[in-house]
Amino acid sequence: MSEQTLFKVTVDGITIEVPAGTTILQAARQIGGEVAPPAMCYYSKLKGSGGKCRTCLVEVSKGSEKDPRPMPKLVASCRTTVMDGMEVKNITSEKVVDARAGVVEFLLLNHPLDCPICDQAGECHLQDLSFEHGKSKTRFEFQKRTFKKHDLGDNIQLHMTRCILCYRCVFTADQLTNKRVHGILDRGDHAEIATHIEKSLDNEFIGNVIDVCPVGALTDKTFRFKNRVWFLKPMDAHRDCPTCSGRVTLWNRGDEVYRVTARKDEWGEIEDTPDGKPGWICNTCRFDKKEASDWVIEGPRAISRASVISQGHYEGKVGTTIPTETFKAVNGGRTPHLLMDIHDESEVNQPNIHLGQINGPSHGNTFNNKTENA
Ligand code: SF4
Ligand code: FES
Repeated sequence: MSEQTLFKVTVDGITIEVPAGTTILQAARQIGGEVAPPAMCYYSKLKGSGGKCRTCLVEVSKGSEKDPRPMPKLVASCRTTVMDGMEVKNITSEKVVDARAGVVEFLLLNHPLDCPICDQAGECHLQDLSFEHGKSKTRFEFQKRTFKKHDLGDNIQLHMTRCILCYRCVFTADQLTNKRVHGILDRGDHAEIATHIEKSLDNEFIGNVIDVCPVGALTDKTFRFKNRVWFLKPMDAHRDCPTCSGRVTLWNRGDEVYRVTARKDEWGEIEDTPDGKPGWICNTCRFDKKEASDWVIEGPRAISRASVISQGHYEGKVGTTIPTETFKAVNGGRTPHLLMDIHDESEVNQPNIHLGQINGPSHGNTFNNKTENA
């Protein structure tokens, strides 16, 4: 077997070796953390994805060892393969930071600011992108686009105004189902996700479009408006499913299963199963198995992607560590002369109830009836 050719590539000053043919984005993901550019349209599990949204732009400051000239323009890292000796700047490039702010502004031109009522809030890649790279104001003075409503069937809700036309759902339907019935109709300002003549999306694997959609354009009708994701407790679970891997994340409140999704990795993409295949799940697992008794619960899921979901969460055992006292640390070792404890002054909080130790979200009973902590 011939040996694989390895190329050295440096991203934001960190050098790694990757096989020839690797894209800059994949190389940067191997380094991890902030070095990896954001990606709204690229999805490693979908062939042909990428090259649409421009959020992954990077600066190539040295083309290769043989031809060290920089690339004249910023390039889409999801579509550009590395060369030996290539040097790339992501967050260390002013041009990239500036261009990314422009891309975010562009994506938000027509995107409604309905995060408070959007089911994707808390796990929306556009929210994260705006938070990290966006500006606090818009220069857009015109009316946002509106669309005729399309009904996609019993399970999937389309909010076209939120769509950023990344094509991920189109590739998913193309590659996971035997007959795609939706796509992007029209072009330019009129482009929209639709079925040509009102049809429902009902293929057994079509629910995966919900998981790949980076925004709240495609959401789960069985979960819509039922709860906020940060109030739910993600649990890894599996069942013996004849159609798919049956490996899922359940989103529970107490014993009630509110939502079932595929398991996602740190890039927000479907996680691979132990045999190395993408863990897409079927509609039956996603929409119909909403009883805890349908599942074998494996344990709490750690949400690795930066998200409000992972804050104050319950992975690990009930009884997580109580935060240490920070006054001394921030005061250079000095303790304050006067310290008012809010618990002495207010009956709202209960000093003997530690939210980090409650097995599940807190509710009125947690405080009114101190014996009930679940
Ligand atoms: S509906 Fe979602 S996945 Fe489909 S193109 Fe729009 S943003 Fe992308
Ligand atoms: S992720 Fe590269 S262009 Fe969208």
